Amino acid sequence: MSQPVAKVSLTGIKPTGEPHLGNLIGAIRPALQLAEQYDSVYFIADYHALTTVRDPELLRHYSRSVAATWVAAGLDPKRTTFYVQSDVPEIFELNWVLSCVTGKGLMNRAHAYKAARDRNVEAGEEPDAGVNMGLYNYPILMAVDILIMESDVVPVGKDQVQHVEYAADIAGSFNHLYGKSYSFKVPKAIIPDAGTGHTLPGLDGRKMSKSYDNTIPLFLPENKLKKLVRRIPTDSTPVEDPKDPDSSSVFQILEQFAPPSAADVVADTRKRLEAGGMGWGELKNVLFEVLNTELGPLRERYDALMEPGSELDTMLAEGAEKARERAGRVLGSVRKAIGVGK
Ligand code: TRP
Repeated sequence: MSQPVAKVSLTGIKPTGEPHLGNLIGAIRPALQLAEQYDSVYFIADYHALTTVRDPELLRHYSRSVAATWVAAGLDPKRTTFYVQSDVPEIFELNWVLSCVTGKGLMNRAHAYKAARDRNVEAGEEPDAGVNMGLYNYPILMAVDILIMESDVVPVGKDQVQHVEYAADIAGSFNHLYGKSYSFKVPKAIIPDAGTGHTLPGLDGRKMSKSYDNTIPLFLPENKLKKLVRRIPTDSTPVEDPKDPDSSSVFQILEQFAPPSAADVVADTRKRLEAGGMGWGELKNVLFEVLNTELGPLRERYDALMEPGSELDTMLAEGAEKARERAGRVLGSVRKAIGVGK
């Protein structure tokens, strides 16, 4: 049995929409960077998406599309354990076990559930109207995802930090009861973009987010990409005037997206804006070129992976096998600790 030596970095990606530039910059790239030093475990959280995605075709499409995106962006399935959550039944067995050591009060205080209740109350509805048990139990399933893979760190966005703290709490409850026989590792959240102070602006200048419908999808055909870039708002400063790059959404997207190979272009563009003489239209052309050069090869790889029967299927099947082996080891210890089975 090979026990991993490196610390484990784990994250789940909920397949609820088409991958966009914000996902690449805020989640995919930082997680791939962590994979260089950590034993990385990344998965598609399709059963988490089930709390909201009710169209089976769409759920299947999003799951595949998100998986293809990560591989196209550089995830190496030989190095990273990469799988689909629903392919690992051990998770759902541990889900029951951990439900039995988790206080209901803890779930009552979860942000997502509380927000749903607040919205209902405000709208004059029953507090729990439209809340399914999947939404309510969501944090427990997420704790299972994390604990069953013996995670040390969990790279997530700010909105998911509470969930990782819950996973640590739930590990604590289990360890308190059964720690003589088996203890879960207690995980910690890390927020990859904390400290940079940057938020990636979307097409309307607000933070790029699916919920604002202002995203730049990653795999658009060239002409559509060009059109979207043109839509990013700019002010009416004349071409000749000096401009502040840091208050321009277009420049911020360029700066945050540009790969190291385009660092010169970014530096040069900054200088030209500050000096005056560069108009917004030209800046948009620069952004489009950098995006298109970088995303072109990704798009090709993505399209190939999305073909039915592509190598993505093998990758995910092998990933599921590795994940089941890891999960099975932990589940076996847990079953023994709690007094079920032989
Ligand atoms: N809840 C996370 C999100 O909405 C997705 C997720 C599911 C996850 N399980 C996880 C993230 C485990 C980190 C670890 O983005």
